[in-house]
Amino acid sequence: MFKLDNKTAVVTGGGSGIGKAISLLFAVQGAHVHILDVDQIGAGLTAAEITERGGKATTHFCDVSKQAEVVELFKSIGTVNILINNAGIAHVGKATVTAEADFDRVMNVNVKGAYNCIYAVLPLMIENKGGVILNTASIAAHVGIADRFAYSTSKGAIYAMSMSVAKDYLNENIRCNSISPARVHTPFVDGFIAKNYPGKEAEIFEKLSKSQPIGRMGQTTEIASLALFLCSDEAAFITGCDYPIDGGFVHLNN
Ligand SMILES: NC(=O)c1ccc[n+]([C@@H]2O[C@H](COP(=O)([O-])OP(=O)(O)OC[C@H]3O[C@@H](n4cnc5c(N)ncnc54)[C@H](O)[C@@H]3O)[C@@H](O)[C@H]2O)c1
Repeated sequence: MFKLDNKTAVVTGGGSGIGKAISLLFAVQGAHVHILDVDQIGAGLTAAEITERGGKATTHFCDVSKQAEVVELFKSIGTVNILINNAGIAHVGKATVTAEADFDRVMNVNVKGAYNCIYAVLPLMIENKGGVILNTASIAAHVGIADRFAYSTSKGAIYAMSMSVAKDYLNENIRCNSISPARVHTPFVDGFIAKNYPGKEAEIFEKLSKSQPIGRMGQTTEIASLALFLCSDEAAFITGCDYPIDGGFVHLNN
């Protein structure tokens, strides 16, 4: 079950964290994984791990917020069976302290980046008579998270974008879903703790861990397993859904 033999998968942000774990697992399951990232070193390390294990990986330097770049790249890949829109950036702050430049930066990567990849991949999937798109939303799309104005806005858009695409391409045999993780322990989390809470890293890490009722952060491999299921042929009946993977965050925090 859950084999991806003869499938081509594109994973954005595959050079780190969740995208890295998804790239590794998809390759183990037989997919040729194309990693799109602005971090060439990270992408190269992921690809090296894949090839060491006998899998197939290709890396591409690509800023997903640049549409022309993205469209050209997808054309050069040719056939894409699976698209994982995972690249994302964080921002901490309420609306009153969110500068226009920060808002634009978050929306450009998190929202426009996903749109650009969807825009580029749909013609390829239509020509190939099907495909699967999985977008990375967040619990922030569903409940109010303090101090995450721009980020939450971007993830709410990802949730709505997923439903829109799922509806519009039903007849083309293209499935589209999203996943909504709570805190997952990745460099993304470590990075924003270090940047925003210098000197209080351990305390904030503990607090963020406890904010999941299950008592810890998620592991990247746990997110990758859900992504694998949703992109596999075994999930052929699933489209237009958002999957929480959150240690009880949304429903049990009371
Ligand atoms: N880690 C969490 O707790 C968590 C929770 C919910 C949702 N998410 C979402 O999961 C996704 C991955 O998060 P992560 O924690 O693995 O992050 P990460 O920072 O570890 O990895 C993100 C990757 O995206 C790449 N990237 C950033 N901007 C890019 C751009 N413009 N073009 C191409 N690549 C770009 C980075 O170089 C990096 O390799 C994000 O969309 C994030 O919002 C994360």
